[in-house]
Amino acid sequence: MKLIWKVLCTLLLIIQAVTGNWWNLAAPRPTTQVGNTSLETFTALHKDACHRLEYLVERQKQLCMLSDTMIKVLQTGAQQSVEECQHQFRHSRWNCSTVENSTDIFGGVLKFKSRESAFVHALSAAALAHAVARACSRGELNECSCDSRVRKRTPRHWQWGGCSEDIRYGEMFSKDFSDSKEDKNTDEGLVNLHNNEAGRRAVRGRMQRVCKCHGMSGSCSVRVCWRRLPQLRLVGDALSTRYEGASHVKVYYVVERKRGKNIRKLRPLHMDMKKPNKTDLVYLEDSPDYCEPNDELGILGTRGRTCNRTSAGLDGCRLLCCGRGYQTRVRDHEEKCRCRFVWCCRVHCEICRFKRDHHVCN
Ligand SMILES: *[C@@H]1O[C@H](CO)[C@@H](O)[C@H](O)[C@H]1NC(C)=O
Ligand SMILES: *[C@@H]1O[C@H](CO)[C@@H](O)[C@H](O)[C@H]1NC(C)=O
Ligand SMILES: *[C@@H]1O[C@H](CO)[C@@H](O)[C@H](O)[C@H]1NC(C)=O
Ligand SMILES: *[C@@H]1O[C@H](CO)[C@@H](O)[C@H](O)[C@H]1NC(C)=O
Ligand SMILES: *[C@@H]1O[C@H](CO)[C@@H](O)[C@H](O)[C@H]1NC(C)=O
Repeated sequence: MKLIWKVLCTLLLIIQAVTGNWWNLAAPRPTTQVGNTSLETFTALHKDACHRLEYLVERQKQLCMLSDTMIKVLQTGAQQSVEECQHQFRHSRWNCSTVENSTDIFGGVLKFKSRESAFVHALSAAALAHAVARACSRGELNECSCDSRVRKRTPRHWQWGGCSEDIRYGEMFSKDFSDSKEDKNTDEGLVNLHNNEAGRRAVRGRMQRVCKCHGMSGSCSVRVCWRRLPQLRLVGDALSTRYEGASHVKVYYVVERKRGKNIRKLRPLHMDMKKPNKTDLVYLEDSPDYCEPNDELGILGTRGRTCNRTSAGLDGCRLLCCGRGYQTRVRDHEEKCRCRFVWCCRVHCEICRFKRDHHVCN
């Protein structure tokens, strides 16, 4: 009996640990000391490190082992997505805070298939595609480099040149990696897959073309252009807008006429709502209460948060403090002021000190 119990507990632990929540890589990890080692040892150490990332599913471990520098790229993607999430949610009740020692760096918040979960999935899939494509163009990965396919089309007034960043490879990798943890036969999996794809499209749709002139004394007789990744901030802003307009959906079974097969589709919960397209975010559940602390879910609550007394928005004291009211403290504030231009060529400023009201939620 005891043995069975032990086996069950171990199984439960394993199930709990392998989550595929690769964004946990954003958490500070103990770094393995790599001293003066040969390339073979370095590769072996890297593979071992991939293997020991216990929250990755098997496919993710395999992809991690592709390149000796892949952990670093994954880590960059994870850190950038957490930073961007915290920027986008800085005024919200849930501020994308992270939790130590959890199977998910965001605590249990993502157990709810909420708008926030939709945003995190989309943003992290986007950040991964972005980080991988960037690493490709910097020559940091063996499998990819610059996008050579753009050169096949020859435009008239300019020419392709330089290094076009390979978002196609980035997307392919992100799809393989992020999507491998999802089961499309579950409602949750279907929704996560949709949001991951929406995230990747937010990057692809914002690729920029930048050009440089060549030719004698700035004549611009030759214009060379390449494709560049958008800043992740731009992607974060776009996904934030999608988050605000996210669709509450449910899973529908549609019987395919020809083969008589059941296919699962996402439809708006209410018939009068717009059908989400591939760039929209979708969610299945309402959000948990972010007002009060909840240790189990890793929710900090909004006590102690700074609010804006005059704002009618999310950062306004009324909404952010959840009706508990706020306290006003007077704080010393420093700012550059009385700046003037000094010939030639600098700007001289003074530092002004003044008192400023600072509002904090009860
Ligand atoms: C690293 O090891 C090589 C040979 O194994 C040696 O020649 C080199 O000086 C070592 N470098 C350092 C920084 O210890
Ligand atoms: C997390 O775990 C580490 C080691 O297991 C421990 O030293 C640390 O105190 C823990 N942190 C929290 C917040 O529980
Ligand atoms: C998808 O819907 C959004 C509005 O929710 C709209 O702005 C966007 O243009 C649509 N995209 C496509 C490809 O139809
Ligand atoms: C989020 O809010 C909590 C207070 O609820 C604060 O302690 C924490 O520093 C904030 N985190 C970020 C990333 O802003
Ligand atoms: C507070 O909100 C108002 C109105 O939205 C805005 O003009 C002001 O800049 C905000 N103040 C701070 C400190 O963010």
